[in-house]
Amino acid sequence: MLFNKKNNEQKVLDCLARLIEPELFEKLTLQSRLTVTNKGTEISLSLPFYAPTWLAQLQQDSAQQLTTLLGQEVSWKVSYKVPTYEHKKVAKRNNNIKNIIAVSSGKGGVGKSTVSVNLAIALAKNGAKVGLLDADIYGPSMPTMLGEKSTKSTTVDGKLLQPISAHGIVCNSIGFLIEDKDAMVWRGPMASKALQQVLNETDWPALDYLIVDMPPGTGDIQLTMSQNVALTSAIVVTTPQDVALIDAQKGITMFDKVDVNVAGLIENMSVYSCASCGHQEAIFGTGGGKKLAENQGLPFLGDLPLHISYREDTDTGYPTVARDVHSHLVSPYLTIAESLAINLYKNLKATIEQINITEVK
Ligand SMILES: Nc1ncnc2c1ncn2[C@@H]1O[C@H](COP(=O)(O)OP(=O)(O)O)[C@@H](O)[C@H]1O
Ligand SMILES: [Mg+2]
Ligand SMILES: [Zn+2]
Repeated sequence: MLFNKKNNEQKVLDCLARLIEPELFEKLTLQSRLTVTNKGTEISLSLPFYAPTWLAQLQQDSAQQLTTLLGQEVSWKVSYKVPTYEHKKVAKRNNNIKNIIAVSSGKGGVGKSTVSVNLAIALAKNGAKVGLLDADIYGPSMPTMLGEKSTKSTTVDGKLLQPISAHGIVCNSIGFLIEDKDAMVWRGPMASKALQQVLNETDWPALDYLIVDMPPGTGDIQLTMSQNVALTSAIVVTTPQDVALIDAQKGITMFDKVDVNVAGLIENMSVYSCASCGHQEAIFGTGGGKKLAENQGLPFLGDLPLHISYREDTDTGYPTVARDVHSHLVSPYLTIAESLAINLYKNLKATIEQINITEVK
């Protein structure tokens, strides 16, 4: 049988169209991202997000159908390019950073920093290039959580700060610059300025995502920051408790007010998972985060159990997702990271990246 490239590409497209949710399939414009070659039928696909589980499922579900349709087994060659998404801010942009994602919560102590660091590492594990900015000027957590407590930032030729590399991500924090106690006395405008300095004067490598661990609350500092930083999107972390949910709602309202897209909600400390016997208990209630997301028409990115290892691991400077010893605690983060990457793609418009056209004379 003669190999018919066009015909076979159409067969692959038809098969994938049946397996991918229509909304996403349409947006992926696979027509322009897919190439089928006759080297034993290889599907070459370019994806705008890293989602290993989603992709593995798609490959598994389509394998049999494709083999039947094409008359031979198929192999996949997948490449990735995360787009830069459009946002409504006029704030100055760093060309190395494609997308800035703020992790926020109305209330302190809901696990914003724990989620930020583990989510950043999870995104990197899935394949993305990730940076982490500790924006909690008053109580920076990242030096401890990354196991870099005694590390101080250095500069290259006295100008830009070098970010700290740890566990597959790069990070900068006000905690790498000054002693903890020195930041406490800063007032709002100073704190906001210090933060913008750490953001703008760091020598960030090329990043798909910069995760920003925001200070708690929805006060002036958060508002100014949301206005002055070129945020692509924000994630709101909550616990299932009513008080936390009310504050999460305030956070969503604040981002709406300053025209920042909300990528979705994460419910932390969802169910208590006992380290000795594995028994589970919904200490703070259950399902509140999901319900709030539904009411707000926002994506629910996932929930995370309350488990002692999450605390112990960050306290000892080796976040759970980097340690890999508790796979049941790692997988929720990998899933949330995928869900975030896919939802950003689904809900935001990518900027048209400049194409270098070489003039032919
Ligand atoms: N899912 C979880 N299970 C157990 N402990 C957690 C969990 N999430 C956060 N913690 C712990 O709760 C405390 C507050 O978390 P943290 O990330 O510092 O919150 P925030 O940044 O919102 O103030 C920390 O001691 C942290 O280790
Ligand atoms: Mg914190
Ligand atoms: Zn128990």
